Formats: sequence, structure tokens, C-alpha cells
Amino acid sequence: MHSVLWLGSLLIATSLAHTLIDRKQVVRSLNVHRNASSGTTPLQVGNGNFAFGADVTGLQTFNPFATMSTWGWHNFSLPTTPDQTSVDDFTGLDWWTHGRLVNYDQPNPAEADISNWLIENPQRLNLGNIGLYFLGSEVSEADLTSTSQMLDLWTGSIVSTFSYNGSPVRIETRAATDSDTIGVKVESDLLSSGSLGLFFDFPYPDVNKFDAPYVGVWNATSNHSTALESSESQLSIQHVLDDTSYYLTAVWEGHGQVTGPENATHRYCLTVPGSSSLNLTATFSPEKGPSVASLDDLTAETELWWEKYWTSGAFIDLTSTDSSNATELQRRIVLSQYLLAVNSASRFSPQESGLVNIGWYGKFHLEMAFWHLIHFARWGHFDLLWRSVPRMYQQFLPSSYDRARLQGYQGARFGKMTDPTGRSAPGEINSLLIWQQPHPMYFAEIEYRSYPNATTLNNWDEVLTASADFMASYAWYNESTGVYDLGPPMFPVSENTDPNSTVNPTFELAYWRFGLDIAMRWKERQNLSIPAAWSDVRDKLSPLPIVNDTYPIYEGVPDMWTSNETTYDHPAMAGIYGWLPPPMSGLPLNLSIVQNTADKIAELWDLGNSYGWDFSLLAMNSLRLGDVEQAVAYLLDPFFQFDDAGYPEGGTRVPTPYFPDAASLLLATAMMAGGWEGSPGPHFPAGWDVRVEGFVPGL
Ligand SMILES: *[C@@H]1O[C@H](CO)[C@@H](O)[C@H](O)[C@H]1NC(C)=O
Ligand SMILES: *[C@@H]1O[C@H](CO)[C@@H](O)[C@H](O)[C@H]1NC(C)=O
Ligand SMILES: *[C@@H]1O[C@H](CO)[C@@H](O)[C@H](O)[C@H]1NC(C)=O
Ligand SMILES: *[C@@H]1O[C@H](CO)[C@@H](O)[C@H](O)[C@H]1NC(C)=O
Ligand SMILES: *[C@@H]1O[C@H](CO)[C@@H](O)[C@H](O)[C@H]1NC(C)=O
Ligand SMILES: *[C@@H]1O[C@H](CO)[C@@H](O)[C@H](O)[C@H]1NC(C)=O
Ligand SMILES: *[C@@H]1O[C@H](CO)[C@@H](O)[C@H](O)[C@H]1NC(C)=O
Ligand SMILES: *[C@@H]1O[C@H](CO)[C@@H](O)[C@H](O)[C@H]1NC(C)=O
Ligand SMILES: *[C@@H]1O[C@H](CO)[C@@H](O)[C@H](O)[C@H]1NC(C)=O
Ligand SMILES: *[C@@H]1O[C@H](CO)[C@@H](O)[C@H](O)[C@H]1NC(C)=O
Ligand SMILES: *[C@@H]1O[C@H](CO)[C@@H](O)[C@H](O)[C@H]1NC(C)=O
Ligand SMILES: *[C@@H]1O[C@H](CO)[C@@H](O)[C@H](O)[C@H]1NC(C)=O
Repeated sequence: MHSVLWLGSLLIATSLAHTLIDRKQVVRSLNVHRNASSGTTPLQVGNGNFAFGADVTGLQTFNPFATMSTWGWHNFSLPTTPDQTSVDDFTGLDWWTHGRLVNYDQPNPAEADISNWLIENPQRLNLGNIGLYFLGSEVSEADLTSTSQMLDLWTGSIVSTFSYNGSPVRIETRAATDSDTIGVKVESDLLSSGSLGLFFDFPYPDVNKFDAPYVGVWNATSNHSTALESSESQLSIQHVLDDTSYYLTAVWEGHGQVTGPENATHRYCLTVPGSSSLNLTATFSPEKGPSVASLDDLTAETELWWEKYWTSGAFIDLTSTDSSNATELQRRIVLSQYLLAVNSASRFSPQESGLVNIGWYGKFHLEMAFWHLIHFARWGHFDLLWRSVPRMYQQFLPSSYDRARLQGYQGARFGKMTDPTGRSAPGEINSLLIWQQPHPMYFAEIEYRSYPNATTLNNWDEVLTASADFMASYAWYNESTGVYDLGPPMFPVSENTDPNSTVNPTFELAYWRFGLDIAMRWKERQNLSIPAAWSDVRDKLSPLPIVNDTYPIYEGVPDMWTSNETTYDHPAMAGIYGWLPPPMSGLPLNLSIVQNTADKIAELWDLGNSYGWDFSLLAMNSLRLGDVEQAVAYLLDPFFQFDDAGYPEGGTRVPTPYFPDAASLLLATAMMAGGWEGSPGPHFPAGWDVRVEGFVPGL
């Protein structure tokens, strides 16, 4: 029955010759308009692996927002401290783990310099800035009049207009769909007199865990070098920062003059005297001499890509509902769809701040991959999901097998705070978190429901096997109770407990069961045998802890609902019914305990001190419990904010943007629109006039 239903929805999703919803009208009604630069967020063009952040000029003229990529990273030089000059000198720390010493990648005070180096390196780079150059005068944004700017979501382009000294200037900005290229069209009489042009500038990285809103420093000019080659219609600038080197190649129509660098800077200028327009494409690339598209080709390709993006996959139309709540939810949904395609549809799981600025040195977190990526599947954009998974997991298997083996476990233990090499940065939390481990099972199962064939089974088999092998060997058999325990030492989803006394956290127990169930099902589907350890651990996994008729963070946590030391950070226990489906094995969930727990969280949790995706997590729990109004209230909570351009605000914990908020909002709204197994959607508040198309029910 269900597979027929899913297939039906899938056909709608993949054969949208024309959709029933007027998507273009809905999307364009949410185009972003600005008349001044924001001091916090840019407007962006981009393609998931590359993005360019613009100020009110459509370029990086006054506010040096970042140009970021998936490949642009940099290492500062290694420490020179004796015995700490190589990454191999880092040895981490040994902690007692069920009667034996296990080595963890944690900062070791005796080797502090190399420990820190491994945390801070590599960092993601701001590749460079491109802005308007005004000849011979210090111009600020206040000198512009009639400033007006629009981000057209439907075509992925920004049009910016203003006047300077009475002369109008118009700029269009776009990004290529599959290279690290921006396209810029400038129209102004100021160009022909040579009093307006473009500049290209290159910063050096900063050693900041969070570098926001701007990335890098522009005055450390002697720490890096640039070299120019140019002709009248092309320039190539090589940027060398220590061991990192890459190129900016720009091509334009007509005759240009390139000057610079100005004084002791890395700033170059291009003018096109005699022409009142400048059509330019600029590509950042690790290698010299990339093929650079013409502006016309880039424009055509970009418009086609975005139209296809908006007309394929799933869609939610709330515009017929006369309620400010529906209007705001619609705005968040559409702007999140735009921003996540620009910032998060990358070859690796994205960093929390996408391609806007630096969070955690630009590294990404494997436990966050679920929140960043699974919505692409739920919204029918598997093409974007497949850019990173399962390939990212396959690529990290060798280092993850090593990590497990060195710690005395079977299988592959996935890391946490990661860069493209698969190295997990040293950290107490980083080394003791475990909820990243069953994510592959969730990705695989979601994919299988849409593509139930041998390719899906093969693509995920090794990753699921390696992950399940670790999960089974990590669980520790407690002879006195006859059950398998998780931890200690460990950190649960909320990273605020004592790792040496954290055991059997509610969410991780439920997720371990889910992961092993899916891994076993995967083997059954392939007619392969199921490793005995998987079923043994699953069948004897510790029951979920219960205190006072609620699910606590972990077994034995003191003062669960009576101390503010436990009722903040991620309320992950709400994830066992919402984020996760009900258990496929073992005892059924006691739904009155699930409800009591949800009630306690609603009553006591310090949501002002939360990370934003907690709101979506709680909304999904409310949905499965049947309280749609509460779900919407969570998604519109005053502590869960999205700015005028849709960037999720960081709140009290991190700088803006914090994209897991946007991604989780799309996951929760997919659950509202598409429903879940046994309860197909849509699930919206009574009285809302809602149209949805293209969704497949979730797990
Ligand atoms: C600029 O935008 C703001 C906010 O949208 C608006 O209140 C203001 O009237 C606009 N100013 C001009 C000159 O258009
Ligand atoms: C940074 O250094 C590490 C350790 O040597 C290396 O694995 C990595 O490839 C380097 N990354 C860059 C961008 O140079
Ligand atoms: C946990 O135990 C280890 C010893 O196994 C100790 O080195 C470490 O400091 C303890 N951590 C905490 C947070 O108490
Ligand atoms: C660069 O600018 C920063 C911030 O203004 C300042 O603290 C630093 O001293 C400057 N560095 C140099 C080398 O001028
Ligand atoms: C630039 O290099 C000098 C000399 O190595 C160093 O002291 C300084 O910290 C560097 N500046 C930055 C911003 O990294
Ligand atoms: C830029 O492109 C436009 C068409 O989009 C064309 O009219 C104009 O002549 C071009 N400018 C130059 C300098 O070639
Ligand atoms: C470069 O130096 C010259 C001479 O000191 C000065 O006149 C000019 O303003 C400087 N240019 C910039 C961009 O700082
Ligand atoms: C499975 O489905 C995917 C997506 O449609 C397709 O690319 C692949 O060829 C299919 N594999 C088989 C064996 O049918
Ligand atoms: C076995 O489980 C019991 C009950 O949770 C616990 O008190 C005991 O410490 C565990 N044994 C070991 C060796 O961890
Ligand atoms: C359970 O409730 C009782 C009575 O309110 C309280 O004293 C106790 O601390 C609670 N237990 C936990 C683990 O919070
Ligand atoms: C708990 O409350 C106390 C007293 O108000 C405060 O000092 C402490 O910071 C709070 N802890 C948390 C985790 O909010
Ligand atoms: C809008 O949502 C808020 C909760 O976020 C709720 O209090 C309010 O009643 C809702 N308004 C309407 C008109 O439904």
C-alpha cells in the first residue's frame, strides 16, 4: 500500500511538466529588497559549493562579505616548539573506558601547541573580494543616492541600482551553477570616463574560531603575495598564502586597463574607459587557466538551473491562508530553500555558517550532517543530497576504520569536527560524541523509500556495515544487569553533562536501536547474513531510562527537572518521537511518557539559551504527538528568528547565520506537508488553506 503511495508522490515530484501550484508567483512574492547594506548578512549568489556575499552595490564594495568555496582552505605554519613540529607529534589523551585505557583525540596540555594547531587548521578561506572602484576619491555608502536592490530568487540573481554624483549605476550579479565563478554586469556612464571600475582584493586568514561578519584581515599584506598577468580583456592573479595557492581569472568584453597592486596592498583595479558597460566573469580556481564562461552563457545557464530547482521537487503554498503566522512560515520556507541551495548543497556537509562566514574555523561537523542535508531528500532534491552522501562517508571510511581500530573497536567510528581530509579536530566533546554514527542509516533508509533498488543498496552497504560494526562493538555488556550500555565516557547530543558519568542517554539508545534495525534490514534486502553481534546488541540494548514518568537526558542524571543545569541545550529526548520513527523492534514507546516529557520541556526548558534547530526538533515531536498548533508555535518561537533575507540568526550561542535552523525548518515543514508512515500529510493548523505537492511521507 505504502510503496504505491510513495511512488505516486514520486511521480508527481519527478514529472513536473507543469505544477499545480503557481510556484513562480509564490517564490517571486518573497524576493528580497534592500536599500542599504546589512552590517550582519550579505545577499548571496552561489551554487552550494561556491558563494559570493554582496553588499548594497551587488558587490563587496563597502562591506567585505566573503567569497567562499568547498576547496579553499589554508594552514598556518606548524609550531616550532620542540617535539611538536609535526601532526604526528600529537598523541591525545587516554581515558579509562570500561576498565581499559582508550586513546582519544583530545587536547593534551603537554602538547598544547600542536593540539591547538590541529584545532585551528586548516581554516576555510575568503577567496577574495570584488567591489566597485571609484577613481581618486574616498566614497562611502552614504555618498550613494536612490539605492535599491533586489534578490530575484527565481533566477538566482541580484540587481542593484543607485546614483553617484547624479549618474545612475546598475549592477547585475550571478554565480555559475558548477564552477567558482561570478558574473557581473555593470552599466553606467561613469565607466566610460574611467571614474568607475572594479577592484579585486585578497585578505589573509585570521585565527578566529568564528570570523564574522567578515572573514580575514586586509592589513597583514606582507604575510601573503599576489602576482598579476593581464591583457586588455583578461586578467589572472595568483594568490599565495603559505602552502596554499590559487588563481582569480577574470575575462570581460571590450578594452580594459588593469592597474595595481596599489601601494603595499593586494588590491588591483580594472577600468574600461570609453565603454558604458562592463560584462565580466571572474573564476576562482586552484589551478591556473580555468576555462571561463562568457557572461551570456553564465546568465542563461544560471536562469535555467534556478527555474529547474524551483519547479522540481516538493513545494508548499500557504499564500491563500489569511494569517500572519502562515505568511511568516511561507517566507522562512522559501528563503531557506534559496539559501540552502546556495550555501549547503556542497561536496561535503556544509559548515554551520555555510559559505557566508567562518564558524568553527570553517570546518564541518559530522553529527550536524543530518540536519544540514536530510531535508534535500525530503523535499525531493536528491541531486543536491547526492553531491555529498554517501560519497563523503565512503571517503572518510579509511580514517574512521583507523579511529575505531586504535581504540579497540570493530568497524568505523566517524569523527566530528572535520575538514576534507577526514581528520577530526582534537576536543573532549569532539572525541566523545556518538550521535553522528547512525546518520548513514537514516540517509540510506530515506533514499531507499524513494529509490528502492540495487544501486541504493550497493551504494550504502559498506558504510552501513562499518557503522553498525562499530555501534555493536561500542555497546558494552553489563554482566550484572544483562544489558548493553552506551558510555561512559561519552557526550550526549546536549554537550553539557559529565562525560565520565553519562551512561545510556535516551536519544542515543533509541538511535542505536534504529541504526541497528536499519542495518539489519539492509542485509535482509540483499539476502545477506546479519552479523550476530548486531542482533545481540539490539535485542539486549538497555531500556530507555525513565524518571518520574518522563524520559531524562541519561540514566541516573541527578535533578532532571529540578535544576537549571540540566534543562538547557538540546532537548534531544524529544527526538525519539518525531526525528526518529517509533521503534521497529523491542518494546513499543510509552506515549504517555513521551507526552509528559514534551510537557516538561515546554514548561521548563531554557529555550532562550538554545541552538535554533531545537525548535524544529520540538516541532517534529509535537507533530507526531498530534499537536499541530504547538508545532507551529515552536517554528515561530520568539527565540527562533530569520532576518529580512532569511538568514537564521545565531541567537545567544553563535554568530549569524546558523544554517541548521533553516535546514531543520525545512525538515519539520516537510513532515507537516508530507506526513510520515501511517499518517500522510498535510498536517497544518485547522483553517489554513494549504496546497502541497511532491512530498513522500517520512519515516
Ligand atoms: C528603505 O527600506 C526600509 C526598510 O524596508 C524602508 O523603511 C525605507 O522606507 C526605505 N527607504 C527608501 C528611501 O526607500
Ligand atoms: C593542512 O595540514 C594537514 C596536516 O599536514 C594536511 O593534512 C592538510 O592537507 C593541509 N591542508 C591544507 C589546505 O594545506
Ligand atoms: C574523566 O576521566 C579521565 C580518566 O579516565 C580523566 O582524565 C578526566 O579528567 C575525566 N574527565 C572529567 C570531565 O572529569
Ligand atoms: C591590522 O588591523 C587590526 C585591526 O584594526 C589591528 O589590530 C592590527 O594591529 C593591524 N595589523 C597591522 C599589521 O597593521
Ligand atoms: C604575519 O606574519 C608575522 C610574522 O610571521 C606574524 O607575526 C603575524 O602574526 C602574521 N599575521 C597574521 C595576521 O597572521
Ligand atoms: C554587455 O552586454 C550587453 C548585452 O547584454 C551589450 O549590449 C553590451 O554592448 C556589452 N558591453 C560590452 C562592453 O561589450
Ligand atoms: C598610495 O600611495 C600614494 C603615495 O603615498 C598615495 O597618494 C595614494 O593615496 C595611496 N593609495 C592608496 C589606495 O592608499
Ligand atoms: C536506482 O535508481 C536510481 C535513481 O533513479 C537510478 O539512477 C539507478 O540507475 C537505479 N538502479 C537500478 C539498478 O535500477
Ligand atoms: C552495570 O549497570 C549498573 C546499573 O546501571 C551500574 O550500577 C553498574 O555500574 C554497571 N556496571 C559497570 C561495571 O559499569
Ligand atoms: C522525582 O520527583 C521527586 C518529587 O518531586 C523529586 O524529589 C526527585 O528529585 C525527582 N527525580 C528526579 C531524578 O528528578
Ligand atoms: C542556573 O541558575 C543560576 C542562578 O540563577 C545561574 O547562576 C546559572 O548560570 C544557571 N545555569 C544555567 C546553565 O543556566
Ligand atoms: C500565531 O502563532 C502564535 C504562536 O507562535 C500563536 O500564539 C498565535 O495565536 C498564532 N496566531 C494565529 C492568528 O493563529
